[in-house]
Formats: sequence, structure tokens, C-alpha cells
Amino acid sequence: MCINGGPNSYDFDLSKIFFYLLLIMAIGTTFVITCTLMMIGFMAATQPQNLVTSETDVKTFGAVGDGITDDSLAVNQAWDVACSSTGQFKLSAGNFLVQPLSFSGPCKAPVVVVTVIGTLKAPPKNNWINNTDTWLNFQHINNLVITGPGRFDGQGQSGWWDSCKETKTCENNPTALGFNDCNGLKLKSVTSINSPRNHISINACNGSIITNITIIAPKESPNTDGIDIANTNGVHVIGGKIGTGDDCIAINGGSFNIIVNGLFCGPGHGISVGSLGRNGATDIVSNVTVASTIFSDTQNGVRIKTVPQPVVKISGVTFMDINGTSSTPEAIDIKCSRNPRSCVGITLERINIQPINSLIKVASTCQNTQARILGLVFPPVVCTQPNFIVMPLDYDYDNSTAQEIATA
Ligand SMILES: *[C@@H]1O[C@H](CO)[C@@H](O)[C@H](O)[C@H]1NC(C)=O
Ligand SMILES: *[C@@H]1O[C@H](CO)[C@@H](O)[C@H](O)[C@H]1NC(C)=O
Ligand SMILES: *[C@@H]1O[C@H](CO)[C@@H](O)[C@H](O)[C@H]1NC(C)=O
Ligand SMILES: *[C@@H]1O[C@H](CO)[C@@H](O)[C@H](O)[C@H]1NC(C)=O
Ligand SMILES: *[C@@H]1O[C@H](CO)[C@@H](O)[C@H](O)[C@H]1NC(C)=O
Ligand SMILES: *[C@@H]1O[C@H](CO)[C@@H](O)[C@H](O)[C@H]1NC(C)=O
Repeated sequence: MCINGGPNSYDFDLSKIFFYLLLIMAIGTTFVITCTLMMIGFMAATQPQNLVTSETDVKTFGAVGDGITDDSLAVNQAWDVACSSTGQFKLSAGNFLVQPLSFSGPCKAPVVVVTVIGTLKAPPKNNWINNTDTWLNFQHINNLVITGPGRFDGQGQSGWWDSCKETKTCENNPTALGFNDCNGLKLKSVTSINSPRNHISINACNGSIITNITIIAPKESPNTDGIDIANTNGVHVIGGKIGTGDDCIAINGGSFNIIVNGLFCGPGHGISVGSLGRNGATDIVSNVTVASTIFSDTQNGVRIKTVPQPVVKISGVTFMDINGTSSTPEAIDIKCSRNPRSCVGITLERINIQPINSLIKVASTCQNTQARILGLVFPPVVCTQPNFIVMPLDYDYDNSTAQEIATA
């Protein structure tokens, strides 16, 4: 087709030039697009906060982790990204000082995994900028998994404990870790130390599993319960060690189906069901089993407590296979209110709590209920019968459990 000369050669040459121009433009455009894509890729790689990676690490958001710099902003931003993307949140090695933070859901991913390698540290009391009742509050998150081996350090020794000893109330001190309104919470191999008040609060949650947790505070620290549970259905505590000078686990009103298995508890108060009754008729607890647990240097290893007047109901509480030592005479302490229906279905099975030293004599208290005693229980338990005052039946009453006890 390429013929030189002739009248048509001019036209032919023009179309040829046009063709090459088009070719050059096409190559150029491709080059520019390729370069732009490469640059975007490069920028994304060097600025990970713009990129949703599989795991969101607080360090890539500028968290310093030297224990001095305030890393609140970086941690908060990293959480927002993790929660709205893959749900994989990582606190790498380091000491991350953070102000009170709220980790709120719902998150996009069906499972949210927080991997704690380093330490999250609260500021000392005088440097708190928020007046919140919880330092780190996890709320409205489904299937939140927090795994160790890292730790949460509440810095309770930085003035919180002193102030609550002075004012004789710890009401104004914050909880370290709060879990509210959640389903399928899992805490695994994490450590919480020196909370200003109780270490962990679980409130309004369904189906929580807490495995191999470590909670530590000095024996003298005031009001530093390990795990407080309220308005919650289903908590399974498996293994772990809690020694805070206060209740290892306190099971409060509105809690059902709580199982503690294989915990090491102490020094402290032991495991408490109650104090119930402070909120009136709403305080109901049922299906609590504490099994294969060791109490070491506890004040009341096994405790059930309802305050005398309001209508409260505890049903189906079993303490079984428990060994330990008590630092006070009250090794087993069960105080129910005079309403005969306040505590039903209490079972004590194979319990051996000895005095911590020869200066103490241990005893059991069991008031206003009928406990079923199985196997060897030491100190021996003799319950006083509830006096059959007639109370209005303004709540459900599980008659079958009572019948079972009556015939036991
Ligand atoms: C604490 O205060 C800061 C600054 O006002 C705020 O960004 C943060 O959300 C607050 N934290 C909580 C838990 O309220
Ligand atoms: C827990 O389960 C109860 C009963 O199914 C339900 O009413 C409640 O909304 C659940 N809680 C959460 C946080 O979803
Ligand atoms: C339990 O947690 C500790 C860290 O507190 C860890 O060193 C240990 O490996 C964990 N054990 C298991 C069986 O996961
Ligand atoms: C207590 O446990 C029993 C047996 O597992 C179960 O049938 C019952 O529904 C539980 N009670 C509550 C209030 O969840
Ligand atoms: C309690 O002591 C008995 C007798 O020594 C032992 O068989 C049992 O395993 C111990 N239980 C726990 C939870 O340590
Ligand atoms: C409990 O059951 C017994 C025998 O079945 C019955 O006589 C009694 O009235 C019942 N009590 C209540 C409070 O339902």
C-alpha cells in the first residue's frame, strides 16, 4: 500500500502522521496511567493510615509507646480504622499512655480482634483529662476478642487509692476496663494491674468467655475487685489468676449462667454472689457454678450476700471442688435475707478451706437458707432456716428447685 509519489501521497502522509500521533498519545496515556497507579501504590505503602491493611497497628498511626507521650489520639484513630474495616487491631510492643477512651461499635467486621502485645497505661491521677467512670470502655461490639500477652495498667497507686481511703468512698474512682452491651466477648491471656477501682466490669452482655486472665493489685488496695458482672447472661471464666485484695469475682443483680472453673483466687475476698438487694426487687441472680478453684489467703472464700429487706432472689448457686486458705474466720459466708425465697438451690460440694495460720479458727456462716451439702465441706456448714414470714409474690419463683432442696 505504500507507494511513493502521485497526487495521493500528501493525503497518505497526513494519515500516517495522524496514526503515529495517535500511537504516541496512546503510549503516553498508558504511561501516565501506569505511573499514577504506581505512585498511588507507593504512597499507600509509605502512608499506611490511608490504606486498609489486614491488621491496624497503633504504631503506624503515630503512637510512640514510650510511656510518656500521650498516645490517645493515635490509638483512637487506629481503633476507628480497625472498627470500620477488618476489625484487626494491634497494640504492638511498647508502653502506650492513653487517656480515658471509648472503643465503640458496632464494627463492620463480624469479629473484632484486639491483640495486645505491649502495655496500655493510664495517666497518673492528676493528669486525667476526662472525668469518666471507666478508663477504657468497650461498648456495642459483637464478638470482641482481646488477646494477650500484653497488659492494662490502671495506675491506681498514683493517688486514686489514697484519695478513696481519705474520703472513705471509692465511688469516684474509675473502673479500668468496661464491657457494655456486647455479645460473644472473649478475653484471653491478658493482664490487668493496679486499677483505680474494679479492674473489669461486664454489663449487659451475652455469652462471654474469659480464659487465662491475670488480674493483680496489692492486697491493701481498696475496692479493686477483679471482675464485676451485672445484668449479664453467660460468663465462663476458665483458669486464670486474680489477686487484688478485694473480690476476685463479684456476681451482681441480673446475672445468669455464670461458670467459674479452675481459677486461682487470692489474696482478697474470694468470690461473691452479691451484695444483692441494694437496687430493690430487680436483683435476681441464678445459675452460678464455681468449680475447681483455689482460694489463697482470702477473707471470705465463698460468699453469698443479700441485704436484709428488699426482695431479692438467688437461685441455683453451686460451689464445688474448692480448696484454699482463709485469713479471717469467715471462710464460707452465706447471708440470705429472711424471706424464705431469697436463696434457693445453694449447693456446697467438696470444699476445704483451712485457716492461713494457727492463730485463726475458721468457721462457716449460713443464714436463712437451706444449703445442700455434698461430700466433705470444711469448715462445716449449719444453716439457720429462713423464718417463714409471708412476703408478697411479686416475682417469678422457681418452685421445683425449692422442692428438690426440701427433699435433699
Ligand atoms: C476524653 O476527652 C477527649 C478530649 O475532650 C475526648 O476526645 C475523648 O473522647 C474523651 N474520652 C471519653 C472516654 O469520654
Ligand atoms: C442479650 O440477649 C437478650 C435475650 O436474647 C437480648 O434481649 C439482648 O438484647 C442481648 N444483648 C445484646 C447486647 O445484644
Ligand atoms: C496465660 O497467659 C500468660 C500471660 O499472662 C501467658 O504467658 C501464658 O502462656 C498463657 N497460657 C496459656 C495456656 O495460654
Ligand atoms: C439455668 O440453667 C438451667 C440448666 O442449664 C437452664 O435450664 C435454665 O434456663 C437456666 N436459667 C436461666 C435463668 O438462664
Ligand atoms: C483439692 O484438694 C483435693 C485433696 O487434696 C484434691 O484432690 C483436689 O484436686 C484439689 N482441688 C483443687 C481445685 O485444687
Ligand atoms: C410449690 O409446690 C408445692 C407442691 O407442689 C405447692 O404446695 C406450693 O403451693 C408451691 N408454692 C408456690 C409458691 O408455688
